[in-house]
Amino acid sequence: MDKAKDSPVTGYESHEKSGLYDRLIAYSHSDYVPFHMPGHKRQAGRGSLPAALPWGIDITEIEGFDNLHHAEGILKEGMDRAALLYGSRRAFFSVGGSTAGVLSAVFAAAFPGDTVLMGRNCHKSVYHAVLLRGLKPLYIYPRRDPDTGIALCYDPMDIREIADRHPEIRAVILTSPTYEGVVSDIGTISAILHRRNIPLIVDEAHGAHLSGKNRPWGFPCGAVAQGADVVIQSLHKTLPSLTQTGLVHLCSRRIEEDELSRYMGMFQTSSPSYILMASIDSCIRFLCSDEGTLAMQVFYDRVKNLREVLKKYTRIRLLELSGAEPSKLVVKAEGMSGRELYELFLDKYHIQAEMCTDSYLLLMTGMFDTDEMYDRLYLAFQETEDYLCCRERKENDADREMNGRGNTGSEQAPSVCDCPAVCPHQVMIPAEADKMEMEEIPLAQSAHRISGEYAYQYPPGIPLLVPGEEIDEEILQKLMEDERRGLHIQGLKNHDGSYIRVVRQ
Ligand SMILES: Cc1ncc(COP(=O)(O)O)c(C=O)c1O
Repeated sequence: MDKAKDSPVTGYESHEKSGLYDRLIAYSHSDYVPFHMPGHKRQAGRGSLPAALPWGIDITEIEGFDNLHHAEGILKEGMDRAALLYGSRRAFFSVGGSTAGVLSAVFAAAFPGDTVLMGRNCHKSVYHAVLLRGLKPLYIYPRRDPDTGIALCYDPMDIREIADRHPEIRAVILTSPTYEGVVSDIGTISAILHRRNIPLIVDEAHGAHLSGKNRPWGFPCGAVAQGADVVIQSLHKTLPSLTQTGLVHLCSRRIEEDELSRYMGMFQTSSPSYILMASIDSCIRFLCSDEGTLAMQVFYDRVKNLREVLKKYTRIRLLELSGAEPSKLVVKAEGMSGRELYELFLDKYHIQAEMCTDSYLLLMTGMFDTDEMYDRLYLAFQETEDYLCCRERKENDADREMNGRGNTGSEQAPSVCDCPAVCPHQVMIPAEADKMEMEEIPLAQSAHRISGEYAYQYPPGIPLLVPGEEIDEEILQKLMEDERRGLHIQGLKNHDGSYIRVVRQ
């Protein structure tokens, strides 16, 4: 499967003259297999996926098809079915992904000037909501995996302590599971917050496939069943539904139903796509069916088996992150960077992974993965393991010949960016910083200035700086050291990391 001589899409790389549609069609005919989002894995016609999308059924709110923003008919029935499946009081369809849901939930939960506690590793949609709503954020830092720097779960005791110190907290927003699949103890956290009458919003963008009372299919329990007040899910990430589709679950009365509904109406288009909504509806119906339940069980068993096999390997290492659910495969290879492994899988096996960092590869499995996809994955893992064992043996022999041990593998690029022990000083809230005049100055000269941008490393995706925070010496040294080590700082407008936007003095 050498990409150069056996290209799955003839002329795929030279499609300069063809449009996006042609390019997508060509790619759909290729033999690349998707271990990435969306969760339907391009399996048109299978299970919940109607093969007949899209032109003939692309309509607007005509007679008999209800209205998303005043649902009383077929859309309401679909949303009620979703609420029943997950066990929430009310479910809303989102055609704006989790992003629209996060914005709506935060707006419904807090008023301008209110204080909210949020995970420092939250997705940018949470940061955007805080900025747009004019909120004062306090941050909780999740634990970190010492090996990779990946953000782990939140400690409920940290949350209790912060809630005790800050009775002014209006709402809490946390991410669970994370991109890498780490699930926090939402049950305990909900109980702690509810004793103080604080609502909990959980960004469960990566967890629509988790289990619940009506979905007992092996994966850990999701946030609706754990007592969160609002739970936001991207169906497209982990389930067979089209990109941009999601659900927002209202689970209690701590956040006003009418307000959440009003903001869902504001943050979503007034012309929601019936194709997207049909894909949500089909996905939920499929999950409610015997066929769907079976597919979910097969998915769970298959990924568990794969993980068991991978555990036996010695050069390919499947990371067992504390608290992680099994569907995300975070893989390291001895003596190979994450990027090398990603390229090997892509070029040699035509396996498209979800993403890689310097040190690891992330593969997303799903309920619509086929036997062929798994065969390809097993082959790629086995051959890579064999190759690495063989390479190590040769290197050891060569070392012995030279009567000394040399380097046993290529140096791994350092991938971990340590978070500061304390959160940077918040001089002004993000909304205030957003209104200020900015200037771009050399990073090296930015000590004690107020940042106008986000600056973070992935992993862990925890911003070192948020707009409105002071760039203190410690953080500046950290950023400059990361740049020196070739660890690209993300979030800055200036991509090479030499300049930063700060509030004009
Ligand atoms: C944790 C988290 N929350 C929210 C989102 C936004 O989801 P969507 O792309 O469905 O809008 C993402 C997207 O990657 C995410 O990773």
